[in-house]
Amino acid sequence: MINLNKIGLVTGGGDSPGINAAIRAVVRKAMSEGVKIVGFKNGWAGLLENDRRRLNRQDVSGILPVGGTMLGSSRTNPFSIEGGAEQAIENFEKNDLDAIIAVGGDDTLGVAHRLKDHDIKAVGIPQTIDNDLAETEYSIGFDSALTQVSKSLDKLHTTASSHHRVMILEVMGRDSGWIALLGGIAGGADVILVPEEHFKVADIKKRIKKREAAGKYFSLVVIAEGATPSELDQQITRDSGTDSFGHVKLGGIGHYLSDQLEAVLDMPIRVTTLAYLQRGGEPTAFDRLLATRCGVSAVEFCLEGKHDVMTALQGNIITPVSMEKVIANSPKELEDHLLRMKDLFY
Ligand code: F6P
Repeated sequence: MINLNKIGLVTGGGDSPGINAAIRAVVRKAMSEGVKIVGFKNGWAGLLENDRRRLNRQDVSGILPVGGTMLGSSRTNPFSIEGGAEQAIENFEKNDLDAIIAVGGDDTLGVAHRLKDHDIKAVGIPQTIDNDLAETEYSIGFDSALTQVSKSLDKLHTTASSHHRVMILEVMGRDSGWIALLGGIAGGADVILVPEEHFKVADIKKRIKKREAAGKYFSLVVIAEGATPSELDQQITRDSGTDSFGHVKLGGIGHYLSDQLEAVLDMPIRVTTLAYLQRGGEPTAFDRLLATRCGVSAVEFCLEGKHDVMTALQGNIITPVSMEKVIANSPKELEDHLLRMKDLFY
């Protein structure tokens, strides 16, 4: 164990239920070891602006079941701002930090990894509803998003069957299909469309007609926002802008598919876009436990002098894995066995 005095804490990128549970665990574990925690506001922006607050037991009391992040989040990228990295290093030193714990997805952890080159010691905690971070079986927030998708499909099932309709549910996940794939399987979707496999409208029509021939006069279709029709060579976006990490703003594939299916099916079609309902609300028990375990382990890794690592869930153990490996192997590929499973149930 090494002697630490103060650790910084940042929560960045798209939020999800569970982050507050991780913040609580970091603070409680650190305090039990006599280590101070300085929370920076709104992701990496807080470190750039030196906008921070000490966190102690009272600050994290009662936040375990509360969604979102008490520190706030942003998609600020210090490396896309003139002098950003230098400002981050200056404030890291000004606050006399021994290390920093970053909670987020590949963008947030990618910044933490790059700061290593400027002698900033960081430990990452995987948090993104997309579940696209490599080397960890789950990221915080994914299970809560899955629960939202499967419960939404249960609701759409009753109304689709009552009106003999095709219900299209557009879900998040950016370029990854984990939410659509596992949410669709858990919710009993008849068609699951993921970015990793371009889809053909004719194939979807065939699946729906097969169900109709078997007396099922309704169908549930889950489509990931990043899914791409074979006839298009691009994803459907909300506008032409990009965020500070270069990501386009996906959205609208559900309505695109509805238009395409309306032209070839004689069934009514309706679209529901789940959007930010997958990001809000209270964390599931699984996410609370994962977040708590990662938060405690992140402090332990700092105390053991392990840096540039992420708290990864592997075989139900929280393991320090190299951030280099995480970033290099992300986005995490969909498992073949699960991909084949999605076409079994319709
Ligand atoms: O990365 C999480 C995520 O919810 C993606 O699934 C989605 O495409 C993106 O964030 C939305 O970004 P924003 O919250 O900036 O609109």
